[in-house]
Amino acid sequence: MIDNKQAFRSALGRFVTGVTIVTTRDEEGKAIGLTANSFNSVSLDPPLVLWSLALTSPNLLAFRNSRAWAVHVLAADQEDLSNRFATRGIDKFEGLSIDDGPEGAPLIPGCAARFGCRSTFEYEGGDHAIFVGEVVDFIDRDIKPLVFHGGKYGGVFQGAKETRPAELVHEGEFGRYFIGHLLNRAYQTAFVDVRREYRARGLRSSEYSVIVALGLGDGCPRAELIRRAANGAVDLPDAAIDGLIARGVITGAGDALHLTGEGRKILAELMAVAQSFQLQLESMLAPYELSQLTSLLGKLCSVGEDAG
Ligand SMILES: Cc1cc2nc3c(=O)[nH]c(=O)nc-3n(C[C@H](O)[C@H](O)[C@H](O)COP(=O)(O)O)c2cc1C
Repeated sequence: MIDNKQAFRSALGRFVTGVTIVTTRDEEGKAIGLTANSFNSVSLDPPLVLWSLALTSPNLLAFRNSRAWAVHVLAADQEDLSNRFATRGIDKFEGLSIDDGPEGAPLIPGCAARFGCRSTFEYEGGDHAIFVGEVVDFIDRDIKPLVFHGGKYGGVFQGAKETRPAELVHEGEFGRYFIGHLLNRAYQTAFVDVRREYRARGLRSSEYSVIVALGLGDGCPRAELIRRAANGAVDLPDAAIDGLIARGVITGAGDALHLTGEGRKILAELMAVAQSFQLQLESMLAPYELSQLTSLLGKLCSVGEDAG
């Protein structure tokens, strides 16, 4: 007897799945669909697949009565679509260009794979109805799928050999990643152009930090600016502030410090260099990889903040 449903749900969430959208048309021909990760293969010959639908779904009757439905295996960049089709009571198909699959089941573009199915059996499955369908056509694209695990979206991990270059594996660490080393290398790579630019303007790293920190919110009191700019700077930002005032990059009126016209010009030039690295990164990574990278680095920064 399972009393703790939350614990049961959490244990089930350990099982990694892909994410699908299952679509059909209701009796009036209106396109309907929902996000489902209960999809699975059943048989190769005949080719059968299944998925299950909550009995509380307003779409239950439509799926029960439909002769065909289509299963779309979502691609890594279709998280928004997954969220849209998991939201009840909205026009889920708004703005999508839909083709017709078997028996008119609506087909959504951009997915990693798609199975057009003839509805074959329906079984009782507790609070869900289990639908089995015979696959009548399918497409398969060589792109990364969206992954669902523990109630969160993720991506596919390609395996140790592919993602762990030999020179980064630290023998003394039992072959584990040496994250600090990796972060340092990534930081050097990300920062090489910006560093060259601020040095070319005769600025030190602490002065660069002060200019950026002031760019985040002008008219900042000195103590607040020091707190913001201390982030990683080797030299004391306090001295950096005085140096920048002396150079006419910052002007200090009472307790509010401002970038001068010259300061704003330097900031804009340095941010343009930083932006070009950002664009390079965006062209290299899938959107979900970029958002994971941003979130993980944010977490790492907050570890440092908690400790300090
Ligand atoms: C990743 C994910 C997987 C889901 N899997 C299922 C599923 O297998 N079966 C189901 O009935 N609902 C599933 N849901 C919930 C439905 O998508 C959600 O309840 C949606 O509102 C159902 O659409 P409807 O209310 O228009 O029927 C899932 C939601 C998400 C985000």
